[in-house]
Amino acid sequence: MPLMIRNGHIVTATDTYIADILCDGETIVAIGKNLPLPIGADVIDATGKYVFPGFIDPHVHIYLPFMGTYAKDDYATASRAALVGGTTTLIEMCCPNRMEDPIEAFELWSSKAAGLSACDYTFHMAVSRFNENTEQQLREIVRRGIASFKVFLAYKGFFGVNDTELYQTLKLANELGVIVTAHCENETLIELRQQQLLAEGKTGPEWHEPSRPALVEALGVAHLMAFAELTGAHVYVVHTSCQPAVEAALAARARGVSVWIETVVPYLVLDNTFAELPDFEGSKYVMSPPIRSANHQSYLWNAIHTREISTVATDHAPFDFKGQKEMGRGDFTKIPNGIPTVEHRVDLLYSYGVRKGHIDLCTFVDCASTMAAKLFGLFPRKGTIAVGSDADIVVYDPDYRGSISAKTHHMATDYSAFEGWPLEGRSDTVTVRGKIQVQGGQFVGDQTHGQLLTRVPTHGD
Ligand code: URP
Ligand code: ZN
Ligand code: ZN
Repeated sequence: MPLMIRNGHIVTATDTYIADILCDGETIVAIGKNLPLPIGADVIDATGKYVFPGFIDPHVHIYLPFMGTYAKDDYATASRAALVGGTTTLIEMCCPNRMEDPIEAFELWSSKAAGLSACDYTFHMAVSRFNENTEQQLREIVRRGIASFKVFLAYKGFFGVNDTELYQTLKLANELGVIVTAHCENETLIELRQQQLLAEGKTGPEWHEPSRPALVEALGVAHLMAFAELTGAHVYVVHTSCQPAVEAALAARARGVSVWIETVVPYLVLDNTFAELPDFEGSKYVMSPPIRSANHQSYLWNAIHTREISTVATDHAPFDFKGQKEMGRGDFTKIPNGIPTVEHRVDLLYSYGVRKGHIDLCTFVDCASTMAAKLFGLFPRKGTIAVGSDADIVVYDPDYRGSISAKTHHMATDYSAFEGWPLEGRSDTVTVRGKIQVQGGQFVGDQTHGQLLTRVPTHGD
């Protein structure tokens, strides 16, 4: 059945204007003023509301065996949470450890999503070792439509690659035209500093940041940049948390390295004092790289404004406080790293970015949707409002006032890092390929509507 979205304030990465949008089947078929209403069409009155392209979160973890436990969400909870928060496409990190085969892992991760996701999704394929079987398996995974890799320059012995493996991965990626996303920290320094801090009796969550300070992250970025420069690979630095890390990437960009930069919402709105909260509450704010001192926030907001930082993701990695974060009582290195954020990325960016004047509406759409679509081979199917694009649409109510709470969120975790935070706006209606999945801020849709999005490499010469 056709769907008409009437009279909304449409915002794309480049334009804002008032018009109607007509969707037929899964696709946007017309945009204009006073469009004729097809017989039998459903109508959404978007007067006074923003109409955004469905948001894309290019960095989430859903199925994640990590640090002796498993992330709490499954695709049912994570995709519902994403949709209620305006995110219509998830790009999940498929993260085998060094013992696992890439193809087997890809099939395992795919099986966790198939038939369970309410929103569309795809994967970045992590390369956590490179042996004689890896190359042909990675070629096969790219043939199956996964056009991005992931490497970790941290988590030694688990996800982390050594320099030989990093070089081989980037060389192959360059040949295939596949972009490589990378977690950048110097793992040797982390290990040494963790041991030193623990030996000094510094065991609480507040010592997580000093164990991997900004310099350690910047060194990781500089390391990746040298490898990218030598191989010619296109790279994307995930979750940059601080000025020195962004500057290391920008310095490489200035000398011709094809590098794009992501930050994630927690770094924009939280600071390291949260990790000092008493009664082990600080563990709720432990992620890697760590939440930094507040002075980095204005640098990051400005780098989004100038578009030096391309994307704002979440790095959603959900662990309960009870029984999971608590595994690190008495030893901060055992606190499962990660903050559940997939539901609130868009609202936090809007309330604490747009409303506070850090970024304008077009930048908001660009960093939370369009750039991810462009970098990861989804544009213009996703990431914009245009005739021929998928009808992934967010009708956003800027007059909504409410607050975040674990009591009402849709993620599976027993806490929110943003408990009680006020919001000035929310997604009212959300469609995925023309189907209304959220209405009045509530999930009303089909739990199995999500599809795996296959992609072709877009970073070849
Ligand atoms: O703390 C984090 N970031 N947890 C998830 C794993 C990763 O490094 O992305
Ligand atoms: Zn990471
Ligand atoms: Zn991550």
